[in-house]
Amino acid sequence: MSGLWTGDELVEAMQARPVGNLPETVTGISIDTRTLQSGEAFFAIKGDQFDGHDYVGAAQKAGASVAVIAEEKLVALGRLHIPLLVVSDVLEAMRKLARASRARSQARIIAVTGSVGKTSTKEMLRTALSSCGNVHASAASFNNHWGVPLTLARMPRDCDFGVFEIGMNHAGEITPLVAMVRPHIAMITNVAAAHLGSFSSIDEIAHAKAEIFTGLEKDGTALINRDDKRQELLTELAAKAGARDVRYFSTGTGCQYRATRIRELPDSSVVEARIGDKSVAYTIGAPGAHLVANSLAVLAACQLAGADVEKCADQLARIVPEKGRGRRHALSLKKGTATLIDESYNANPASMEAALKVLASAVTGSSGRRIAVLGDMLELGSTSRKLHAALKRPIQKAGVDQLWLVGADMAALAKAVDPAILAGHFNSVADAAKPLAASLGDGDVIMVKASNGLKFASLVEMLVTQFPESVPARPKTAGQG
Ligand SMILES: Nc1ncnc2c1ncn2[C@@H]1O[C@H](COP(=O)(O)OP(=O)(O)O)[C@@H](O)[C@H]1O
Ligand SMILES: [Mg+2]
Repeated sequence: MSGLWTGDELVEAMQARPVGNLPETVTGISIDTRTLQSGEAFFAIKGDQFDGHDYVGAAQKAGASVAVIAEEKLVALGRLHIPLLVVSDVLEAMRKLARASRARSQARIIAVTGSVGKTSTKEMLRTALSSCGNVHASAASFNNHWGVPLTLARMPRDCDFGVFEIGMNHAGEITPLVAMVRPHIAMITNVAAAHLGSFSSIDEIAHAKAEIFTGLEKDGTALINRDDKRQELLTELAAKAGARDVRYFSTGTGCQYRATRIRELPDSSVVEARIGDKSVAYTIGAPGAHLVANSLAVLAACQLAGADVEKCADQLARIVPEKGRGRRHALSLKKGTATLIDESYNANPASMEAALKVLASAVTGSSGRRIAVLGDMLELGSTSRKLHAALKRPIQKAGVDQLWLVGADMAALAKAVDPAILAGHFNSVADAAKPLAASLGDGDVIMVKASNGLKFASLVEMLVTQFPESVPARPKTAGQG
């Protein structure tokens, strides 16, 4: 059977009312007319800012083969040439399609949640498993109330592995999402202060993350990070959620999926590990202890999913740091070169610490300095300033020579750190950009990291434009987004 869904399957799964001549099949599912490919079904989802019903015309123009719309909007939409599937609620219809997709699938399904590292782990799984079959994985960070059903609805009927990122900002969010995904393997990368805003403690976050185990298939496996401070709590919660098979991964000792030797290099890590009853040796093509931890969870999941672990492990050399998550750029200065580590995508205490460790192990030129440009970590609630000030330790440990700070809550860190390393504290990244650019010297390594809202991507953009890379571009990435 070719095509993602037949017209008839769509009608049946969503109990939709067809208007016009439905296509034989649709090639994909889209909720965004800017990326819609000809032949796809357009779902008019209502988001926070936009209502897809305002874009049905654009979807038609872009070549949508059918549009899924709400009954109440039908009249207002006026004349359209494409066939329609009319439902009472479009998002609910997409959920129904998601469930139908899961029901028809023979794939081994893996669900990933955690405070940090969901996307990195999901992409690593995509890369690893692609050596052993067809993999379907969430695009970008499609991990919420629309991202998860969309990813499910897009799952090809004949894929071998499905990898789902599941996120949350509130308690209770994961439960209905994982009930749709019904994973054979559910993992929590870690539990840390991230989106602390709506939680009063990290234990509370652990409870919310552990909801992922409620959706496990009967014979499914819960995978827990033994190095996590809350591994005992998570174990209890997994049992409460009904998980009968609970397993652990660790960079230390004492569990089924563990590293036996780790060599951290400036641009990669070389790992020897026990994965179940197998010893494997592999290279991860990007640096950082955090990626080593993620890789153990990845290989554990590969083994549990029935894949060839050695083949999967071999793929990890192809991992490269993603844009905004550790990607490196060589900056050609007037005199010499500097290295930029782009961590602009997001930040919280755990990922800040991980990135500072990577900065610590980066190789500087003979006169080069380790420079950290750090912006506010958002959504940390009432303990935010304390958590910002607490970065003082990891900064010291990393041997940061120069520190640039941006944002209101970073004022707390500016007060706490050794004034000798502080280059300045700025209100916005735009204010810091010029003096920073002017101060760069040969051999410097600059790591920039902040929550996305601080717009550090614009700083990266400015630096790579001002100091264009003269060396040939880096190899193509294995994964995406
Ligand atoms: N296990 C981990 N521990 C700490 N930091 C991590 C870990 N995995 C990834 N990171 C870092 O955290 C940031 C966010 O990673 P990402 O995979 O996008 O997380 P998420 O999808 O959970 O938001 C990146 O800077 C990444 O390098
Ligand atoms: Mg993500």
